[in-house]
Amino acid sequence: MIDDGFRLLPEQASTHAPRVDLLYFFLLGVAVFFTVLIAALIVYLSIKYRRGNTNVDRTASHHESVLTELAWMVVPLILCVIIFTWSAALFFSGYRPPAGALEIRVVAKQWMWKFQHPDGKREINTLRVPLGQAVRLTMISEDVIHSLFVPAFRVKRDVLPGSYATCWFEATRTGEFHLFCAEYCGTNHSRMIGRVIVLEPADYQAWLAGGKTNEPPAEAGKRLFNELRCVTCHVGEGATSRCPPLVNLYGGQVRLVGGKTVKADEGYLRESIVRPAAKVVEGFQPIMPSFDGQVDEEQLIQLIAYIKSLAKPIAVAQPGEGGDHE
Ligand code: CUA
Repeated sequence: MIDDGFRLLPEQASTHAPRVDLLYFFLLGVAVFFTVLIAALIVYLSIKYRRGNTNVDRTASHHESVLTELAWMVVPLILCVIIFTWSAALFFSGYRPPAGALEIRVVAKQWMWKFQHPDGKREINTLRVPLGQAVRLTMISEDVIHSLFVPAFRVKRDVLPGSYATCWFEATRTGEFHLFCAEYCGTNHSRMIGRVIVLEPADYQAWLAGGKTNEPPAEAGKRLFNELRCVTCHVGEGATSRCPPLVNLYGGQVRLVGGKTVKADEGYLRESIVRPAAKVVEGFQPIMPSFDGQVDEEQLIQLIAYIKSLAKPIAVAQPGEGGDHE
């Protein structure tokens, strides 16, 4: 069960959590220091200069001090630069997953969270992750904006329709933790909740191995690739003349008509399936039909997983089922 005892802050259950809290307490400290300083000065000065106190100097003297002027510019500047650099460093480290992170795909919809593990295993509103391993979430929404929020991990990221959002975490303790939708998304927004269960790595593997297994995303994507007849253009002889080749595409740079270059990441692949004319590869005609509305977000994820698998040397050796490759 989730420990819901009274606490000022959620427990710290990820590598990110203590770092976020340290910044939080630094900001709190700065705010408290200046609040107390200013409040104390107000009280002290109003007593000192109270009406009837003849013991103070009330001549309207004003002297210019360069040192004072500089002090109230430089001190806030330094504080702001410290806060900016610290927060920016933390922000980037929170959104840049380390290489080799376990990739879990998340599809949000009114009003549930759907998760899929790399081996294809699916879960709804419950996410099991291994302890001490970086986990990367690639997330998209089927309808409106949602936001994935795991307080104990200090992870919160908006999940948008139409483009992938990623975040990552590494759990540092086993147990169950709250998962919330943190963006108002309709009538049952408040019920769009779940839990993250952190397991020992061996328990996680055992859980993956047990129960019903699902088709891995890359395999489902390969099947879909054949069903939608993508295979006729994108694999085999036609690939080099009519359509850009997909083997070893993922992660590389693509030159477009007009001379621009884009990185072939998930966002680019998704856009090229849904809106093929948006970014046309140099040397090719915009002849590909749009698959917008013909494939849902989970199928897009599968297709992209398949294209990603083509970028690994091992997968390249496995030909398509059409038999018309090479
Ligand atoms: Cu989904 Cu609020």
